[in-house]
Formats: sequence, structure tokens, C-alpha cells
Amino acid sequence: MHSSKLKPENAPKRVNTEKISLFSSRTIVYNVSPSLSYSNRRFPRSLEALHLHHWSNPHRGLFFYLTVVRLWSTFEMFWQDFCLVSAFVVTVFPALVLLAVSRLLWELRWSITRDRSSKLPLPRGSMGWPLVGETFHWLFQGSSFHISRREKHGNVFKTHLLGKPLIRVTGAENIRKILLGEHTLVCTQWPQSTRIILGPNTLVNSVGDLHKGKRKILAKVFSRGALEAFLTRIQDVIKSEIGKWCAETGSVDVYAAAKSLTFRIAIQVLLGLHLEEQQIVYLSKTFEQLMNNLFSLPFDAPMSGLRKGIKAREILHSAMEKIIEEKLKKHQASDYCDAFDYMLSSAKENNYELSMQELKETAVELIFAAHSTTASASTSLILQLLLHPDVNERARAELESEGLISDAHGYCRSRCHGNVINESSGGAETSGSERRSTGNKTAVEKDDGCRSRTHVPYLSLEKLSQLSYVDCLVKEVLRFLPPVSGGYRTVLQTFELNGYQIPKGWSIMYSIRDTHETAAVYQNPDIFDPERFNKDRDESKNERFSYVPFGGGVRRCIGRELALIVLKTLAVELLATADYTLATETYPKMQTVPIVHPVNGLHVYFNYRTLGIERNRRESTHL
Ligand code: HEM
Repeated sequence: MHSSKLKPENAPKRVNTEKISLFSSRTIVYNVSPSLSYSNRRFPRSLEALHLHHWSNPHRGLFFYLTVVRLWSTFEMFWQDFCLVSAFVVTVFPALVLLAVSRLLWELRWSITRDRSSKLPLPRGSMGWPLVGETFHWLFQGSSFHISRREKHGNVFKTHLLGKPLIRVTGAENIRKILLGEHTLVCTQWPQSTRIILGPNTLVNSVGDLHKGKRKILAKVFSRGALEAFLTRIQDVIKSEIGKWCAETGSVDVYAAAKSLTFRIAIQVLLGLHLEEQQIVYLSKTFEQLMNNLFSLPFDAPMSGLRKGIKAREILHSAMEKIIEEKLKKHQASDYCDAFDYMLSSAKENNYELSMQELKETAVELIFAAHSTTASASTSLILQLLLHPDVNERARAELESEGLISDAHGYCRSRCHGNVINESSGGAETSGSERRSTGNKTAVEKDDGCRSRTHVPYLSLEKLSQLSYVDCLVKEVLRFLPPVSGGYRTVLQTFELNGYQIPKGWSIMYSIRDTHETAAVYQNPDIFDPERFNKDRDESKNERFSYVPFGGGVRRCIGRELALIVLKTLAVELLATADYTLATETYPKMQTVPIVHPVNGLHVYFNYRTLGIERNRRESTHL
């Protein structure tokens, strides 16, 4: 609107409203009628002044009136802004200052209470916010929490998680000091709920000489003789579970299936229990409840996680008690020795009397330690086999050259490890891959899928040790996706690490995953490459602590050999007898807490392989 075009006498009568864009970004409806209300409005002063100048002579009173109103409106406007600013100054600003000050004081609190007898500084890092520290960052960011902090602060950094000051440590040399300092510099630390649920008589809850004594008794369960006897049964359980996967009409959730497999191995092989399928399912569910509540708040209230965990433990203990009592009543030795037999005989040799409570707690502890770790590694093994067809080829070639893949018909005519072989169904029918493309199997195919057409003879420890590529494969799976990401300790006395002080009383965590990912000894650590462990190259041989999927020192995993046997046997049976394809469009994301596993499971179609077709295919590619 141009003021020059306005006639003063018409001015009050003219169209009274205009949309005006303010000096600021706001737009208002500006009413120029004399009867209008100016309150609460901003308007362009220059523009209005021009209007007023034109009207001034005949309407002095109006001009005065408008000026007062305008001044009042300006004052009102500033007053409102002032109120807003002052409200901010009075409420939000002090709150922000308070938070910043409390954060500073919180940081200060930790640097003041460091060990003053040591001249070394505390590691770099942030203690986060008062009381909660960086717990919420950790919960929301997952594994990237540690990666981002390690990149920012280095291999030894401090933080504050779950109500405790914590130092996280990466790197072979650093973790070596922690693992070899058990009982002197550091002491194992499990959450209170885990300690309560597992019980005081377990290996993980014992320290010093008591720990040493318990390990000695348990060591017999994992002796070579014991493992050799376990191997045959392990292979039977694995064969039978793979049979179920292949017979499945749809896809199999590998992580759930692997948990079922490892639970069965723990119950049937390690503890030697002969249970009905119903009982196994019931115990497995109870055990899952125990596992789900192992890391809960340490309050024993109705419906609390701790109470549920304790309840699950009681059910498992009473089941164990019955079995142990029966075992102790039987005086005659059986052909097969299980973990209870080995523990009892080992205790006798060491003049130690194992109580019923100790036996029950140790049994549950062994299932706890073996079950989810081995299930996680088994899932990762299958995931890597799906991702790397070249690895499958190499491994299968090794199995063939070692005589471990044979035609089931040639091997046994009627029965094979419980799977009935029907001769009339033999021959080269539909291949596994053709079946897979349709996803679901027909009734005939399902029935057919229950029979393996290739067969692996019973393995021995010696045979397994000859499979060097399978050994590399399993090692690389455990390097690439270590099931346990690290171990927690409490610092017993202040010590030096990487130029920093590690103060007494703080928690410290050695990181397995980060160490595997960053160790300089590994060429292209981000690539899955079993060859890095072959005898000529063995990248970790010069730095023992750069490869620690089973921890190290006196707390090194006692079930290590058993776990390796399970994984290798699973690899051999799968490679020799089954084909597998991903049932989903994309591969799942992996979650690392509390144990490495695929976020929504790993869904896979399994089918028994046909040896003849596979051989023909390979021969034709060679031609
Ligand atoms: C792939 C499978 C497995 C992995 C990756 C694994 C990993 C580990 C790790 C890293 C530790 C040391 C934790 C620490 O330093 O705080 C450990 C300890 C332990 N593991 Fe395993 N484990 C596996 C399988 C097994 C099996 C099959 C058993 C027994 C049947 C077992 C029994 C134990 C026990 C009893 C401890 C505590 C040792 C002690 O405190 O002295 N683990 N395991």
C-alpha cells in the first residue's frame, strides 16, 4: 500500500484491514480504522508515521490518540517479551545451570576420590550425569556406545554405568594384565541378582583357593576321556536336531533352534539325563525363565525379576535333586559317565565331599555357561556359512578328502542313527535347492526330508583335530562374532594401565569384541576370513591375548574344549548333510547384549543334500 495514493479524508473509511509482514517474521492483521484496537499488535512504524503525517492537520486529536496507543502497544509488546524472557531466566535457565554445575561436581567427585597415592591420572572419558552416569546412553546406543568412546578417548576409558564407575579396556596388552591379575589386582564381578540366583557354591561365585579347588574338581568333566565319550552323544543329538530342521515345512528360526540344541546337549550329554520330550520342553522353558531374570534388580519382591529367577532355580534344583538321589542310590557303575559321575569321583580323589546343594548349583551353572554361549556361536556359524559359499566349498572339500561325506545308502542299509533309510526312496529326486525355491515342502518332500542321503560316520577327537579348515572356520566365527563381549571385574588394588591409574574399588571390563576388532595382528579384521588361522599364517600366534573368545588366565572358560567340539561337529554334520538358504530378503542385524544374537532371529530353509547331484555339479564345472 502506497501512502501517497491515499486521500486523508478517505483514510478512515478505506478498507481497514491489511496483512503486514512485521520486522520480525510474524504476520498480523493490521487495522487502520480509528476505532480499532491496536493492542497486542506490532506494525511498521515508518509506514504508519507516513499515514499519520497526512492525517495530522485535520485530525490532531486522533494523531495524539494513535501515538499514545502506539506507544502503549510497544510498551505492552516489550513487557510481554520481557515476561517470557524473565520466565525463562527464573525457571529454565537456573535449571540448566544447576544441571551443568551438578555434572561438573559429579566429574569432580570422581577425580577427587581417585587414589591419591598414585601420581597417574584417571583414564579419559566422561562420568555422565549424576547418579545415572552414562547408563541411558549405553542402553540406547548399544555397541556404538563403546566404539564412539573408544575412538574418542582411547583403549582405556572411564565411564559410569548402572550405578558404578567403570573403566573399559581394549587391546591385547591391556587385557593381559587384567586376566593374569585375577585374585591379586582384580576379582571377578557378577551382578548381585546373578550371584543370588546361581548360588554361592558355583565356580563363578567363588574366589581364591575355593575357586582353585572347585576348578580342579570340575576339570575332570572336561578331560579328554570324558570329551571323547561325550562326542558320540553330541553327534547323535546334532544329527537328530538337523533332521528336524530339514523336515520342517517352513523356515527354521536358527537362534531358537540352536538354543534348543544346546539345551539338549547340556541335559542329555553333560548331565546324562534321560527325559521324556515333555519334560525337556518344560525344563527348557523353566531354564529360559532363569536366564531372562539373571540380570535383574536385586530386590526380592513378588513379581520381581529376582523372585521369578529364584522360582525357576528352585524348580530346576528339585528336578536335579531327584536325579542325583537316584544316581547316588545306584551302586553299579554304568557304561556312560556324565558330569555328576566325574565330579563325584574327582571330589573323592581330592578328599572333598560334595554336598547335594553344591551338585545342584554346579549343574545349573554348567547349563547357564554352556547353553546360550554355544547357541550364539552356532547361530553365527550358520550365518557365516550362508554368507560365504566359498567357505562351504572349501570345508566340504576337506570333509570329502577326510572320508567324512559318504552316501548313506552305501553306509547303512536299514538304520542310521535313528533315521530310517528307505532304499526305495533313494535316487536323485528333486534337489535341495529346487525344493527350497518353493519355500514350503509338500507332504512327500517333508517325508523325504526326514531321511539323510549323505552320512557322516561317528567322529573321534582325533578325526576332528585333523580337520584343519573346519578348525579355522570355527576359530574365525568366534573371533568375528564372539558370543561373550567381555568380562567384568572389581579392582582389588590400584594399578597402572596404559599410563593411567585404575583405582581400587572401581569396576573394570575387559572387552573381547573390541580387542578382536582392533588388534593390529589381524589383516583386514572386518573381513570374515578363516584362512587367517591356518598353520602358516596364524595371525594370533604371536599375541596370545589378541584372541580371547574364551577369556584367559585362571578364569578362562572351563568348557572351552567342549564348546569347540560341539561347534565343529555341528559344522561337519551341516556341511555334509544339509543345504541351507536364507528365508528372508535381508540378513538380520546382530545384537550384542547380553550375548551376540540376530535381532529378530535368523530364518533359514534347511534340506538334506543329495551327494550324487553335488558331485555331478562339481565334476561338470571342472570339465
Ligand atoms: C562358544 C561357547 C563359549 C564361550 C564363547 C564361552 C566364553 C567364556 C568366557 C569368555 C568366560 C570367561 C568370563 C570371564 O572372564 O569373566 C567363560 C567362563 C566360563 N565358562 Fe564358558 N564359554 C563357552 C562355552 C562354555 C561351556 C560349553 C561351558 C561348560 C559346559 C562353559 C563353562 C564356563 C564356566 C564354568 C566359566 C567360569 C570359569 C571360572 O569362573 O573359573 N563355557 N566362558
